[in-house]
Amino acid sequence: MGERLPLAALTDSFPVLAQSINGAPLVYLDNAATTQMPLAVMAAMREFESRDRANIHRGVHTLSQRATDDFEAARERLKAYIGAGAQHELVFTSGTTEALNTIAQGLSLAGHGPAVLKTGDEIIVSGLEHHANLVPWQLAARRCGATLRVLMPDAEGRLHIDALERLLGSRTRVFAVTACANATGERPPFEAMLALAKQAGALTVLDAAQAVSHEALDISALECDFVAFSGHKMYGPMGIGALAGRRSALDKLVPLRLGGDMVEWVTLERAEFAGLPARLEGGTPNVGGAVGMAAAADFIDGLGRAAVDAHVTALRAHAVKSLAALGGVTVIAPHAETSAIAAFVTGDVHPHDLGTLLDERGIAVRTGHHCAQPLIDHLGLGPTTRASFAVYNTHDDVERLAAGVARALEVLR
Ligand code: ALA
Repeated sequence: MGERLPLAALTDSFPVLAQSINGAPLVYLDNAATTQMPLAVMAAMREFESRDRANIHRGVHTLSQRATDDFEAARERLKAYIGAGAQHELVFTSGTTEALNTIAQGLSLAGHGPAVLKTGDEIIVSGLEHHANLVPWQLAARRCGATLRVLMPDAEGRLHIDALERLLGSRTRVFAVTACANATGERPPFEAMLALAKQAGALTVLDAAQAVSHEALDISALECDFVAFSGHKMYGPMGIGALAGRRSALDKLVPLRLGGDMVEWVTLERAEFAGLPARLEGGTPNVGGAVGMAAAADFIDGLGRAAVDAHVTALRAHAVKSLAALGGVTVIAPHAETSAIAAFVTGDVHPHDLGTLLDERGIAVRTGHHCAQPLIDHLGLGPTTRASFAVYNTHDDVERLAAGVARALEVLR
């Protein structure tokens, strides 16, 4: 049951967990939104900030060179973490949202030439997506006169390959899908879907935000042009993330952050953009964040991704079983066994009331639409409650969640 992780030592590594909330020890189950940061990540960032902090690339002085080396080492570390090969590059962003916007806008804005997307083109997104992998495509389609088509899940929230086959056509230019739905934990067969979309000639986009902290991601084995993920969902800092992908695909993107460091030369009339990755990293980057994100990759790989995955999926299975056993609780997508997310509804009890009573017992969950309103609507649900698990959670945390939900429902009913 995933107990191969050194749980006691792990809890000590996360100082934020060693506190009481409303008189009860904190049980932090909002990891799909933000995981906590271990001391090792904080130490790496502190070392950068207290030894090497300077701006990169523009300076010949020692600190600037060290900062540049740190930044590029972080890039290489994260490329290795996702299995990037020689044909890939990784660009630092502020998070998954910026990465996905960089793709959608970069394909739909005119740069020195016309936009990649044109009138009559089709963009397919899945109906499982977080708003960050939907709204930018809505705007991109409108901007270019392209059509946005949605690969809808079935009534239980599953995506089907044959439905994608029916949507793909000679006009499909983009297919965007999540590796794990943040609102339900659904894990679509994205490998096969990306391959099919690529075969049809589409550029393929994977939102890996909810998978990258525990599922091994090998982009060299995927037909994936672009992948996006965040530092704060993988035990790293907030405000840093990555857009990685094939260099040939990243080269198609019109840069959004125009300014310093992303140009080759500039005249008063025109600028020649720099090559990758600088081309998509205009302005002063979050170097400390990149260092922290790379340290987070070390932290996860130090534990072993298979062990992390086994642990969080075992906690999820335990939660699904315990919650489903409570009267009046319906778990969403109980079949999604490979995720770390357990979302549920509680009949006429509003999730915000439930979340508030759980917080009174020190238990932190997320409630609401989880930035995935079309999916929640499609499933015929209103706001839901979501518990999501990380390396430092225990089976005792799951028991406390289930007991907390049972008690809250008694009070609220
Ligand atoms: N995308 C994050 C979540 O699912 C914020 O909670």
